[in-house]
Amino acid sequence: MLDFSFHNPTKIHFGTDQITQIAQEIPTDAKVLLIYGGGSIKKNGVYDQVVASLKAHQWLEFSGIEPNPSYDTLIKALPIIQDNNIDYLLAVGGGSVVDGVKFIAAAAHYEGDDAWNILAKQESVTSALPIGAVLTLPATGSESNGNSVVTRGDNKLAFSSALVKPQFAVLDPAFTLSLSERQVSNGVVDAFVHIMEQYLTYDVNAKVQDRFAEGLLQTLIEEGPKALASESKEDLEVRANIMWSATLALNGLIGAGVPQDWATHMIGHELTGLYGIDHARTLSIVLPGVMKVKQAQKRDKLLQYAKRVWQVSAATDDEIIAQGIAKTEEFFKAMGVPVRLSDVELDASDVDKIVDKLEQHGMKALGEHGDIDLATSKQILLTAL
Ligand code: NZQ
Ligand code: ZN
Repeated sequence: MLDFSFHNPTKIHFGTDQITQIAQEIPTDAKVLLIYGGGSIKKNGVYDQVVASLKAHQWLEFSGIEPNPSYDTLIKALPIIQDNNIDYLLAVGGGSVVDGVKFIAAAAHYEGDDAWNILAKQESVTSALPIGAVLTLPATGSESNGNSVVTRGDNKLAFSSALVKPQFAVLDPAFTLSLSERQVSNGVVDAFVHIMEQYLTYDVNAKVQDRFAEGLLQTLIEEGPKALASESKEDLEVRANIMWSATLALNGLIGAGVPQDWATHMIGHELTGLYGIDHARTLSIVLPGVMKVKQAQKRDKLLQYAKRVWQVSAATDDEIIAQGIAKTEEFFKAMGVPVRLSDVELDASDVDKIVDKLEQHGMKALGEHGDIDLATSKQILLTAL
């Protein structure tokens, strides 16, 4: 196992009526900005519940954060914060809202010329407003991590800081019942790939992390399809298992002390930036390509994955690995997400554009060994045609 320091400060309130905890979690003398997206929280009643829980607080609201939150929208919150002495941000929504609020929290305390530098130049965040989160879409783990992904034009960039980790997060599985099938699928697949990117590297004898990861993968494989099936889609226990899996997938726990490979995400971000493809749907296209092209380097873990997660037994190791990859693709298909570039109407003529964007963003040494250069990314994309 590799050395690590692990600290996750987000207090999780999980389950029915936990939204009332907001009243105690946010200091009563705070001036709160409630921030949300395009209005799903007004249709499903979450907004009313948040408002009821904030009755002892002074608060204002800011809305309109879009999926893949845009920089241009986020910076519009800054004058509201300044003019009204806002000192606490409450994010209510999916990963895009929570990520957007993290950028707003950092930008509000940014002292340089241009807050975009937090993303473009990876300037470190030295101060940020405190954040609380009410999660409505289990997928990103953003509710208890320090990551934020922001879009500006066709650039989709990420930053990470412990200072923007939410202080608390409310996770009520009932809030996810209003999600469309597409959003449910996206969430399950995103969480699945987060686990894979912290698991499918090389063996460092991290038994706890490996078995946690395998358990989470198996939970998503079992519960994901149930959340789409007509007889079980309203089942709150299914929703609860998916929701908690997605949080644990990217709250730092399974990634502590192990090598990590975020190549699938980095290539995927370019697909979203250029073509607007949903985040999870880029991952389901790219991951099988990474598994195939990096098979030699990932061999031990691919075998372990196929045997332990999918119970594959076959005559040769090569067959076991091939079946593990095939089962991963079948799972993605069962979840209704694409597994090839052709599934989203892209072809070989798009590959160079994607690789150019990777170059522009400095993504020239991806993967757990830093050996996924631009040529290898191209090979991965060509494998995904
Ligand atoms: O905006 P509203 O009206 O709320 O609608 C949203 C949005 O249209 C809707 N939605 C959310 N909860 C709902 C709901 N509709 C009905 N009922 C509910 N309960 O769903 C749509 C998609 O929401 P979004 O927040 O974009 O989805 P997701 O949570 O998948 O977040 C995706 C973003 O997170 C980033 C992605 O790149 C992408 O920008 N990621 C963030 C990460 C992190 N912070 O660690 C890691 C991930 O790898 C990912 O990159
Ligand atoms: Zn993701």
